[in-house]
Amino acid sequence: MNSIPILLSLLLSAILSRSSPDHFILHRPITTTNTSSPQEYFDPSFPSILLPAGAGDGDPSCSHAVLSHSFAHSFGSPPISAHLPPCNSSWSTAILDLTISSSGEQYDRIAAIWINGAEILRTSTAEPTPSGVFWSIRKDITRYAPLLRHPTGALISVMLENIIDETLTGVYNLNLSIHFYSNDTDDSDLLSLSSPPLHHSLFKDQPDLILPISNDNNSSGFWFRIENETDLHYKTFVIPSNTYRAILEVFISSHGDDEFWYSNPPNIYIDKNNLTTTRGNGAFRNVFITIDDKLAGTIMPFPVIFTGGINPLFWSPIVAIGAFDLPSYHLDITPFLGVLLDGEPHELGFGVTNATSFWLIDANLHLWLDPVSDQVEAELIHHQAPPLAFSADAEFKKLNGTFKLGAETKVHVSGWVNSSHGNLTIDVEQKMKYKSLIFFRNNGDFKEVLMKGKLKTDVKIKDKLNVVLQRKAFKAKYPLYLVTYTLKDENSTSYTVKTNLSHSFNEKKNLIVADNVVHSSSVVDTQNGFGWMRVEGHSVLDGMANTEQSYRSQDSGGCRLRKIGAKDGEILYDNSTNSCAFVW
Ligand SMILES: *[C@@H]1O[C@H](CO)[C@@H](O)[C@H](O)[C@H]1NC(C)=O
Ligand SMILES: *[C@@H]1O[C@H](CO)[C@@H](O)[C@H](O)[C@H]1NC(C)=O
Ligand SMILES: *[C@@H]1O[C@H](CO)[C@@H](O)[C@H](O)[C@H]1NC(C)=O
Ligand SMILES: *[C@@H]1O[C@H](CO)[C@@H](O)[C@H](O)[C@H]1NC(C)=O
Ligand SMILES: *[C@@H]1O[C@H](CO)[C@@H](O)[C@H](O)[C@H]1NC(C)=O
Ligand SMILES: *[C@@H]1O[C@H](CO)[C@@H](O)[C@H](O)[C@H]1NC(C)=O
Ligand SMILES: *[C@@H]1O[C@H](CO)[C@@H](O)[C@H](O)[C@H]1NC(C)=O
Ligand SMILES: *[C@@H]1O[C@H](CO)[C@@H](O)[C@H](O)[C@H]1NC(C)=O
Ligand SMILES: *[C@@H]1O[C@H](CO)[C@@H](O)[C@H](O)[C@H]1NC(C)=O
Ligand SMILES: *[C@@H]1O[C@H](CO)[C@@H](O)[C@H](O)[C@H]1NC(C)=O
Ligand SMILES: *[C@@H]1O[C@H](CO)[C@@H](O)[C@H](O)[C@H]1NC(C)=O
Ligand SMILES: *[C@@H]1O[C@H](CO)[C@@H](O)[C@H](O)[C@H]1NC(C)=O
Repeated sequence: MNSIPILLSLLLSAILSRSSPDHFILHRPITTTNTSSPQEYFDPSFPSILLPAGAGDGDPSCSHAVLSHSFAHSFGSPPISAHLPPCNSSWSTAILDLTISSSGEQYDRIAAIWINGAEILRTSTAEPTPSGVFWSIRKDITRYAPLLRHPTGALISVMLENIIDETLTGVYNLNLSIHFYSNDTDDSDLLSLSSPPLHHSLFKDQPDLILPISNDNNSSGFWFRIENETDLHYKTFVIPSNTYRAILEVFISSHGDDEFWYSNPPNIYIDKNNLTTTRGNGAFRNVFITIDDKLAGTIMPFPVIFTGGINPLFWSPIVAIGAFDLPSYHLDITPFLGVLLDGEPHELGFGVTNATSFWLIDANLHLWLDPVSDQVEAELIHHQAPPLAFSADAEFKKLNGTFKLGAETKVHVSGWVNSSHGNLTIDVEQKMKYKSLIFFRNNGDFKEVLMKGKLKTDVKIKDKLNVVLQRKAFKAKYPLYLVTYTLKDENSTSYTVKTNLSHSFNEKKNLIVADNVVHSSSVVDTQNGFGWMRVEGHSVLDGMANTEQSYRSQDSGGCRLRKIGAKDGEILYDNSTNSCAFVW
């Protein structure tokens, strides 16, 4: 007789354990002081780009209000497009200026902006409240100058798939402007923040041409939608035969069953426990790029948490790292010029190891063209890409379990390129190391997730005598720690989740010439959140949350530090300084 309640509670546990971590929706602002005015949300990470206030000092050379649109029930609709006129005056910096507002109830939504099919921003929305939220995103888009400088202008497209029904009432109102600034004027905060530091690099910063590696059938966006591990997507492209350098910039976001991929258990656990969840395949994901079916490189995605994710109260009014401007990833594919320079079409492919549905991926191919020669010569001389070394260990008894994962890979590609810069050998080496540990206790109601991802990329440029002229060393570390504890509320269909989260975005770049570091830049961006929420279905009824963020970025332009804390929707403190020697 006793066995019935046990079985019931097991069943309930199984149901509950599916919904954590998950995405949720905010019912009302959680601020203790009641305000009826809309609240501003923001991403505290630097660099914040200041726009000169109003007309007057530091007027842009051109300012184009490109698009104003309300995304209501936009699900399944193609992107909204508008013409971006060229800026006929001289300009050296271009800034994208996006403002979005919403009120009511709504999930976070993914959105993107493309110029002629080349992505310039992947962003996700804040979740509105009945009294309203709004936010601004400013991004320096100068590096997309080849797209912006076309004499007849460009086509700018915005996609934001939203759903409106009886409960989901939040419409996203969006204004998009592009401002062009000239460096003639001795203005301003803007330029000092956005002008690139001296690089001493062998090549100029800006590419001459940008090719979109995106979906020609843009009826549901220019991105490719990847549903599973075998769902590879390809784009055929042709590059000019005087290309001497090629960098691929990849945009990535994960959704649906893979929104919280770093917490997914292995399939054997799901099968043996008769769970109905489709969030499986374990806790490792890795985006891979192929060129003519040869592995060109690997990308370790930073796990961006959207504003409805894990505990939405953490993300009010501070959003999670990268949520408003998802990181893009760079892969130097110059060694492949040896196969690409024949004037023939070639195929670039995207895939996601261990993927479940779904991932949105596209890329831009940045190309540098030889001004002197019509034909650059090149040869791919070394290509080493062994299969991923993968290990997995699962121990579990019913719903309790311990799951370990490890993955490692090394890709090494080199080739020479003979252009007016000389006959140079480009050597690209990537080393990726990933570890994950997941504990399920209390029949799955207590979950602990530990993830550590590391990627090192070394790009060496050598002369004919094999002397290294320049080395670019890039290191990324994306650790994440998450604990969720789910408790069923007595006499109720609601439940309470206690959460502890810590995640960090760490990147370091060094430019080394003749054994000297001539340029160095680093970002260490960490958020810690703790709190609880009471949930019914996917709606947050009540809760408490604390979010702390510490951001530090350092380069030859100096050091910026910001420490900010929020509690229950309000900023508690916000300290910043330009000195890393400073300790609070
Ligand atoms: C805020 O408003 C809600 C609903 O209008 C009310 O129930 C609550 O008591 C108010 N809280 C404070 C602190 O005034
Ligand atoms: C910019 O130049 C183009 C082409 O010369 C011309 O059609 C357009 O009217 C100019 N725009 C402005 C705002 O002057
Ligand atoms: C201003 O911008 C132009 C065009 O991008 C560039 O050639 C020039 O070097 C810049 N001048 C300064 C002082 O940065
Ligand atoms: C967009 O611009 C219009 C006109 O200037 C303004 O009324 C509206 O409030 C703006 N919306 C947002 C979200 O900034
Ligand atoms: C484009 O994709 C949509 C679905 O995303 C599909 O319905 C349509 O048939 C496709 N069009 C072409 C020309 O392939
Ligand atoms: C993977 O996804 C593609 C595209 O949706 C589908 O056609 C294919 O059947 C899927 N493969 C598996 C093994 O599920
Ligand atoms: C899962 O289902 C099978 C077949 O219905 C049953 O034999 C097994 O005991 C179930 N396992 C659990 C953990 O409920
Ligand atoms: C995940 O990928 C690794 C490496 O390719 C493979 O060994 C493993 O079987 C995959 N697991 C799943 C669940 O697809
Ligand atoms: C699972 O772990 C909990 C303690 O975390 C324990 O009470 C329970 O008996 C365990 N269940 C099984 C099936 O071992
Ligand atoms: C460029 O240099 C490589 C050795 O670094 C050599 O094998 C190749 O033949 C050279 N190419 C040309 C066109 O000189
Ligand atoms: C739950 O229901 C039981 C029986 O109806 C009652 O004794 C108990 O006080 C209720 N608990 C709460 C928290 O309402
Ligand atoms: C922020 O700065 C203020 C004033 O300098 C200081 O009192 C406070 O302790 C700082 N807070 C944190 C969390 O560093």
